Amino acid sequence: MTTHHWQAVALSREVTRHPLRVMYDGAPVVLFRAGGRVSALVDRCPHRMVALSGGRVVGDTLECPYHGWRFDAGGACIDIPGHIGDLPRCRVGRYHATEQDGAVFIARDLPDAPPYTHVLTGQSPICRLVKSTAQSRLVDVAENILDATHTHFTHKGLLRGLSAKRHRVTVTVTGGAGWVAASYTGEDRQDGLVSKLLDGARTKTIGRYRHPGIAELEYWGPRGLVLATTFHLRQADTDTVEGIGWLAGPAQGVLGQIKAMAFKPLFNIALAQDRRVLRSAYENARLAGGASPVIGPLDFLRRDITAIIAGELPAAATTPQQYQIAL
Ligand code: FES
Ligand SMILES: [Fe+2]
Repeated sequence: MTTHHWQAVALSREVTRHPLRVMYDGAPVVLFRAGGRVSALVDRCPHRMVALSGGRVVGDTLECPYHGWRFDAGGACIDIPGHIGDLPRCRVGRYHATEQDGAVFIARDLPDAPPYTHVLTGQSPICRLVKSTAQSRLVDVAENILDATHTHFTHKGLLRGLSAKRHRVTVTVTGGAGWVAASYTGEDRQDGLVSKLLDGARTKTIGRYRHPGIAELEYWGPRGLVLATTFHLRQADTDTVEGIGWLAGPAQGVLGQIKAMAFKPLFNIALAQDRRVLRSAYENARLAGGASPVIGPLDFLRRDITAIIAGELPAAATTPQQYQIAL
């Protein structure tokens, strides 16, 4: 499913000559920097299956901590210490790896385009990178990020005001192969702390899910895009979703450097609030014995995100929808 897509797995600054283990769809991957570039190999020595991330980088190779077999960036075994004569052909699986906008991306098969990071790519935006982990499933985390209705409760005061006041909003849901988006118009301002920081005036908010695991929110004001938050999510293992997110705003926009600095900690508070509800949902669902969650009348994206994850065309691609709600 995700083999032909770049998937963000680490921040660039985390990948050094010291090997780093990350999980990718339940498989361990070791990342390391050698010869000026990032390499990604299956984190399992073919000899006795020890984690190569416990070893070290020697020259341009990764050395296993157990018997010292060495592997080059392409995964070929190029040294078996103590062995005299020709080396047996032996290799460890490799991934394609690349870096963009401060993150490391990997793919099983080489994708034909560079990784997508965020909508402001190429416009030298002000950018902050965040990383987060939640005990959850991909569909639940993606939906949580794009779900506007939980903000009144989970993020009261932060993303929303303290009052119960709501605005009448039009929601337009559109989609295509591998994506679905909900556009919210009619809400001139949101009253939370974060919105005040963004100067309030709001022409529209867009929440979009893109294959493989990208959940992005765009806040538009009268003068254009004010802020975009793009989360690259992946199911690290059965019960953990990891996300690498870009908070990006136009350099000349209202989100100046100072605001960007204030925004990141507030954003981290919102992430912690989400982590709490996601974990509660995940743990309780496990105790529910196969009962499935109700898809409510305001859960505009849930079915389509599920379809995209399953490799299907979302319903919104053929039947766009419009709703009126009080947000
Ligand atoms: S287990 Fe890796 S060299 Fe033996
Ligand atoms: Fe949230």
